[in-house]
Amino acid sequence: MHLAVAIFASALVLTLALDNGLMRTPPMGWLAWERYRCDIDCERDPKNCISENLFKDMADRLSEDGWRELGYVYVNIDDCWSSMERDKQGRLQADPKRFPGGIANLARYMHDRGLKLGIYGDMGTHTCGGYPGTNLDQIETDAQTFADWGVDMLKLDGCYSNESVQAEGYPRMSKALNATGRRIAYSCSWPAYQGGLPPKVNYTQLGEICNLWRNYGDIQDSWDSVLSISDWFFKNQDIVGPAAGPGKWNDPDMLIIGNFGLSTDQSRSQMALWAIMAAPLFMSNDLRTISSGARAILQNKAIIRISQDPMGVQGKRLLKDKCGIDVYWRPLSDNGSALVFFSRRNDMPYRYQISLSKLNYTTGLYKMYEVFMGKVGTVEDTSEFTVSVNPSGVVMLYVFPPVKHRQFHGNAKLHGPAHFHHHDLDNAIPPVL
Ligand SMILES: *[C@@H]1O[C@H](CO)[C@@H](O)[C@H](O)[C@H]1NC(C)=O
Ligand SMILES: *[C@@H]1O[C@H](CO)[C@@H](O)[C@H](O)[C@H]1NC(C)=O
Ligand SMILES: *[C@@H]1O[C@H](CO)[C@@H](O)[C@H](O)[C@H]1NC(C)=O
Ligand SMILES: *[C@@H]1O[C@H](CO)[C@@H](O)[C@H](O)[C@H]1NC(C)=O
Ligand SMILES: *[C@@H]1O[C@H](CO)[C@@H](O)[C@H](O)[C@H]1NC(C)=O
Repeated sequence: MHLAVAIFASALVLTLALDNGLMRTPPMGWLAWERYRCDIDCERDPKNCISENLFKDMADRLSEDGWRELGYVYVNIDDCWSSMERDKQGRLQADPKRFPGGIANLARYMHDRGLKLGIYGDMGTHTCGGYPGTNLDQIETDAQTFADWGVDMLKLDGCYSNESVQAEGYPRMSKALNATGRRIAYSCSWPAYQGGLPPKVNYTQLGEICNLWRNYGDIQDSWDSVLSISDWFFKNQDIVGPAAGPGKWNDPDMLIIGNFGLSTDQSRSQMALWAIMAAPLFMSNDLRTISSGARAILQNKAIIRISQDPMGVQGKRLLKDKCGIDVYWRPLSDNGSALVFFSRRNDMPYRYQISLSKLNYTTGLYKMYEVFMGKVGTVEDTSEFTVSVNPSGVVMLYVFPPVKHRQFHGNAKLHGPAHFHHHDLDNAIPPVL
């Protein structure tokens, strides 16, 4: 299929999403789990334990270090926040030592700073960390508790549960959240517990009851983990891709950029591939000590713009070249698109030669912007250009909508092939990005 046709077709698909008006673009923010796990040792590790101070620290950084303005507004609690016992009325309650102010105060702390608070529960007898879960007869109580506290998002995990409890519980929690009258975004771990694929997983139904869902296993702080997750999503792109759209997103899990497992190139790769996938961008890192290099990747405006494209179409892998270069593509609402060239090689920067017409772009003249280097170039659809892709790294291009040939008639010499490696591009206008 011609890419222009593909863009047109995707835009025409009418889709039903959870009708709470939330998350029309992939949500952005911070989530505790990957970096802080179930560290509850506040005596010996006060800076990193799961406590209200950790979430306040991150909120301060989000609001003072330029994150919030870029869209990173959710501050999400994960497992191990609660007391081991429900209160006398059967409600969940926060651990009194680690959250002395309570969750309602923490929500207010976020709202005062233009941020949102997310919380975590489990559709089962216990959370994965062994804290109280939400049994079927506790769904409405827990939804109301979260709403009373002023919580803005719920991640509902699926440990200590089974297929029938999940099939009943996940849709019921969606109804219960709605019935509170508070708009609470809803993240469902359900499909990850059912293998992530039909017939066990019904993506139509998920889109109707959840704003986002975890399809696959937890991310860990390693490149192997990032790559295996990314490969799963693109291998199954024809199944999971069409499920995504405004208000309903596939979630390949957190961004681990800024931690210990990824090189600079691998960090860029995670950011680029997550943006192509229209994935939620929840960082799990230490914003108090993050390096300027990691911050620059996470705060890259061009990538965030691609991620947050309002059309909300999940991108796909166009090809897996035998030389070890993959090409990924995402259509954008202005008729532009994003391209990612990713290297699976482990030798040296690979000079990959390609043309847009080989990728089925329509005839025309295209301006392209390389998002990490901030370089601009112009190519005809048929002109070959070269991208130099580092091992386990990416080159990511924002491709502007084409200008038709005839408007440039007789002017063809202006635009020869461009070379998107670091040195020989014109450093022109960083355009509308
Ligand atoms: C609840 O659902 C209805 C109908 O789907 C929707 O119009 C309304 O905005 C929802 N309310 C909340 C608080 O999510
Ligand atoms: C699933 O779990 C529920 C609640 O623990 C239990 O009542 C039910 O028998 C279980 N169903 C199956 C098929 O194991
Ligand atoms: C999937 O869910 C949709 C919407 O709830 C429903 O109409 C459809 O019948 C379900 N499909 C299957 C195969 O169960
Ligand atoms: C995108 O392309 C279509 C089909 O060529 C055209 O009708 C539409 O006006 C274009 N949209 C924008 C925003 O340029
Ligand atoms: C381009 O289109 C042709 C014909 O439909 C198809 O065989 C080929 O796989 C497409 N190439 C890409 C990179 O999508």
